[in-house]
Amino acid sequence: MQAAVLEEFGKPLEVQELELAEPRAGEVLVRLVACGVCHTDLYTASGADPSGYAPTVLGHEGAGVVESVGPDVTLLEPGDHVVTLFSPQCGECIHCLDARTNLCLAIRDEQGKGHLPDGTVRLSRGGEEIRHFMGTSTFAEYTVMPEIALAKINPEAPLDHACLFACGLSTGLGAAINTAKVEPGSTAVVFGAGMVGLGAVAGCRLQGAERIVCVDLSDDRLELARGQGATEVLTGGEDTVERILELTDGFGADYTFEATGNVKVMRQAVEAARMGWGLCTVAGVAGRGETLDIVPRFLITGRRVAGSSFGGVKGREGVPKLVDRYMAGEIDVEPFISHHLKLDEVNRGFELMEAQDGIRSVIQYD
Ligand SMILES: NC(=O)c1ccc[n+]([C@@H]2O[C@H](COP(=O)([O-])OP(=O)(O)OC[C@H]3O[C@@H](n4cnc5c(N)ncnc54)[C@H](O)[C@@H]3O)[C@@H](O)[C@H]2O)c1
Ligand SMILES: [Zn+2]
Ligand SMILES: [Zn+2]
Repeated sequence: MQAAVLEEFGKPLEVQELELAEPRAGEVLVRLVACGVCHTDLYTASGADPSGYAPTVLGHEGAGVVESVGPDVTLLEPGDHVVTLFSPQCGECIHCLDARTNLCLAIRDEQGKGHLPDGTVRLSRGGEEIRHFMGTSTFAEYTVMPEIALAKINPEAPLDHACLFACGLSTGLGAAINTAKVEPGSTAVVFGAGMVGLGAVAGCRLQGAERIVCVDLSDDRLELARGQGATEVLTGGEDTVERILELTDGFGADYTFEATGNVKVMRQAVEAARMGWGLCTVAGVAGRGETLDIVPRFLITGRRVAGSSFGGVKGREGVPKLVDRYMAGEIDVEPFISHHLKLDEVNRGFELMEAQDGIRSVIQYD
């Protein structure tokens, strides 16, 4: 099969012919139909991620069709439409059994090393083993993944749209729906209008927020935020907190969301949350070693801070539900897709992302 290989950090990905072994027990072979190009792929490709390794096949925003299943697979069968999950749901670990978190503990260690759960790989090239990435490796025509890391979705859903639910979109939606549990009639401020922030705007709208203020540096992105339900938009700057206080009778917002990855903006998001009960949800991933500064007085006077990984979405249960809401017309996915690419244009996807040209490039496989 064809796959985009990260051969060396900082160099373009190389589309090559790789071998993919048959799925083993509990594993599934998926024919990919579409895959979004996300910042995390570029972050690893650049060499900035300290836990990164090469060679590997990047890609984690995949959607496709089950081609075949290995022994003991009970959750899926050939023909099922699936979204790939870098965060699985085994359904049995202490975290899966608890409603408070989506951080499944089942396969974390081996996944982090680039292995499938049994500690081996299915990817190779002329006998040389190639490691998997995020347990997904979806910049490829096919992938083998554990069944617990695949969400079975409505087969009517267009897969080039559904793939966005594999990462950024679910992260933003879930931050509002699951982590913050935004209440109807409330005021929310979302910092950042990339895929995650726009998802959070949409999530606040679905939860019935009355006012949704979106803050970004790009007018084009703020326009997209309006399309997702932002009632007010602001250009970010040093004075953002003061401006939000002015908009909220001096109190701040019931809910704030940070989706930029910038620790200064995280601090603004904490300070723009309302005294008494304001909840700041941090979704952005900060640089290595960076810390978030909070003056304790902000906490003592009733603000709270929460972090959100993959929007608190338990993938196998939660992603199909979000896709159903999209199919019901509640979530407008089309505006997020700015470019459709072929696999051999994957590096162009990175360039478009660096140029902030659109929100998402989606690779489509033939
Ligand atoms: N928690 C998770 O599970 C999870 C999942 C995916 C991505 N992320 C992280 O979420 C963050 C956002 O991801 P994305 O794909 O939307 O990124 P993105 O780069 O597309 O969007 C970030 C946005 O923040 C805006 N921004 C930058 N500085 C700003 C400022 N001072 N004030 C206001 N806005 C500002 C940018 O203009 C941009 O539109 C990243 O840090 C990413 O790593 C987290
Ligand atoms: Zn991602
Ligand atoms: Zn689990």
